[in-house]
Amino acid sequence: MEKYISVKEIEEAALSILPKPARDYYKSGATEEQTLAENRTAFQRLRIRPKCLIGVTQCDLRTKVLGHDVSLPVGISPTAMQRMAHPEGELANARAAQAEKTIFTLSTIATSSIEEVAEAAPDAIKWFQLYIYNDREVTRNLVLRAEKAGFKAIALTVDTPLFGIRRADVRNKFTLPPHLRLANFDGVLSTKIRSTKNGSGLNNYVENLFDKSLTWEEVKWLKSITKLPIIAKGILRGDDAVKAIEAGCSAILVSNHGARQLDGVPTTIEALPEIVEAVRKYNVEVYLDGGVTTGTDVYKALALGARMVFVGRPALWGLTVGGQAGVQRMLNIFRTELEYTLQIAGMYFVFAVLQLLLTLPKIWFA
Ligand code: FNR
Repeated sequence: MEKYISVKEIEEAALSILPKPARDYYKSGATEEQTLAENRTAFQRLRIRPKCLIGVTQCDLRTKVLGHDVSLPVGISPTAMQRMAHPEGELANARAAQAEKTIFTLSTIATSSIEEVAEAAPDAIKWFQLYIYNDREVTRNLVLRAEKAGFKAIALTVDTPLFGIRRADVRNKFTLPPHLRLANFDGVLSTKIRSTKNGSGLNNYVENLFDKSLTWEEVKWLKSITKLPIIAKGILRGDDAVKAIEAGCSAILVSNHGARQLDGVPTTIEALPEIVEAVRKYNVEVYLDGGVTTGTDVYKALALGARMVFVGRPALWGLTVGGQAGVQRMLNIFRTELEYTLQIAGMYFVFAVLQLLLTLPKIWFA
């Protein structure tokens, strides 16, 4: 895996290997894909203003997230159906997170079950991403199973009343390959995604099964059935962040779902400062995902107030090129690039301190 020295190289290699339907499903954004491109360029527009001769003596990437120690502030966002990338799919991804001491988030619509992941990576810090199904008993059981299997938090996706229009999936009439299953639903619901004559089979699945009438009241319901902390995933506005906290969420994941839901929404790094500001008086952590591909991207998100960033596609590309080893390589590229960035930018302290000192981003960015 050492031949890959950037996340971009891993991405290019993965795109050249994946079969077309899976490649298109993984890489697509909503409609014109303007936000998909901007998720990356918005990072590139920010400048780091280095401090010289600060006497670097150490560089420590460790931080605490919801009380758990992680070795670097880059974790893995939930992405559906990872066995299309590699036969071990989510198991390999979770094992990589375990080996690198960071967080793995399992999608509701994964191709490995909650219990399979727990067994494969018992020591990983695992979060479970939740979609709320029309059938609340189905939903409740997912949460209880995650809790029982040792998952540490529920990442409730709040940006998905239905799936966005991803044109390549419409064209490909995307569905799950027949040898794979939606593993969390064995014996509960169909584990297959039915193909449709027109359009994406996945969008059809979501329209039939997900509850789009959800309101913040459901967070209260969720809190009544679990003791796990709830993270609101998919927040792009300060007022929504406040609503999430008032409804009982313990953390906010600033996310536009990898630009797959609605084109023309803010990029996540643009949305972050408003959200950090809005929740300043509450004792909650703020994270970000979307378009993070380099160590300097991570640095910029942390400097603007994120406690941790998460990556979705980079883990899929790592999985595709090398299973667990590929994901570990991807994480270690971030680790190295972030260490370099912190030292050359003149910041070398523990992130808890960084959080406090860098809440005034204007000092650091031109
Ligand atoms: C996703 N994402 C996602 N989010 C979620 O809450 N549940 C899910 O099942 C999925 N599935 C999924 C599949 C694929 C192929 C992608 C690319 C994304 C969104 C994901 O958690 C995350 O927000 C983005 O992937 C972050 O952007 P980057 O890192 O991919 O740019």
